[in-house]
Amino acid sequence: MARLQGKTAVITGATGGQGRIACMRFAEEGATVIGTDLDAAAGADLTTELQEKGFAMTYVAADLADPEGVERLAVAAREFDGIDILYANHGIILGKPLLETSIEEWDHVQDVNIKSVFLLTKALAPLMEGRAASIVNVSSVGGLTVFPNLSAYGAAKAGLAMFSKCAAVDLAQRGIRVNAICPGVIDTAMPRNFVATLPDNPDEDEVMKGFAQGHVLGRLGRPEEVVNLALFLASDESSFMTGSVLTVDGGWSLQ
Ligand SMILES: NC(=O)c1ccc[n+]([C@@H]2O[C@H](COP(=O)([O-])OP(=O)(O)OC[C@H]3O[C@@H](n4cnc5c(N)ncnc54)[C@H](O)[C@@H]3O)[C@@H](O)[C@H]2O)c1
Repeated sequence: MARLQGKTAVITGATGGQGRIACMRFAEEGATVIGTDLDAAAGADLTTELQEKGFAMTYVAADLADPEGVERLAVAAREFDGIDILYANHGIILGKPLLETSIEEWDHVQDVNIKSVFLLTKALAPLMEGRAASIVNVSSVGGLTVFPNLSAYGAAKAGLAMFSKCAAVDLAQRGIRVNAICPGVIDTAMPRNFVATLPDNPDEDEVMKGFAQGHVLGRLGRPEEVVNLALFLASDESSFMTGSVLTVDGGWSLQ
C-alpha cells in the first residue's frame, strides 16, 4: 500500500524547488495534498499538473509570515476531514554581513522562517489532534553550523530546530509528532538567491562550486533527497520518532 494512503498533507513552499517535488511525491504515495505558497498562478499550474496525473490537490495562495495568510490556509484546511501532515518547507534566505542587515530585513527573515511556523502550528494542530499526525519542519545546516553573512537566516533556522523540539514535547499528548530536517546546500533557486544578495557580486558558478565541495560527498544535494526523508518522517514508518533534528547534508556538518 502507498505510504501516505488516506492522509491529508499541508505542504508549504509548494511551488519552490523542494516543494514541487514534495507535492508530487506525497501525492504519488497516496496523500491528498493542500499546497500553499505566495504565487497564485504557479500554484494553479502545479495543481493542474497533479490533477492531470489523477492526484488530489488543492492550492491556497498565502503569505505565511502574515497571520491573515495562515488563517486563510486554515479555513481551507478545515474543509477537509482533519489534517495528518504539516510539511513546513517554505523559507527565504538573506546573504548579508551582520552589520549591514537592517532591522526590517532581520524581522522579515524571522517572520518568514520561524514566526510563520509558530502560526501554522497554532492554526493546524487542532485539526491534527488524535490522528497519529506528523509535523515536518525544514530547518537548515545553516542553523547548525556557521556560514559567513548568514546571521539572520542562521538564527531563524537554529530557532526552528529548537522550536521543533519544544513543539514535540507540547504536542505529544495530542498525538502529534514533530521533527526537523536540516538540508545541506540543495540545487534549487535558494542558494543562487543567497549568492545574489552577497556583497561584492561574487561569481555565482564559483560560489556554487565551493558549496558543492563543502559537502563530504563533493556535490550539491537534490530536492528529492530531502523529500525522501520528509516522506519517512510524515509516514507511520517513523512512528517512534519525535523531537529529532536530522541532517540531509552530504556530510557538510561533519567538518
Ligand atoms: N536549497 C538549499 O540549499 C536549502 C538548504 C537548507 C535549507 N533549505 C530550506 O529548504 C526549504 C525549501 O527551500 P527550496 O530549496 O525549495 O528553495 P525555494 O526558494 O525554491 O523555495 C522556497 C519557497 O518558499 C516560498 N516562500 C517564501 N516566503 C514565503 C512566505 N512569506 N509565505 C509563503 N511561502 C513563502 C517561496 O515562494 C518558495 O516557493 C526552505 O525552508 C529552505 O530554507 C534550503
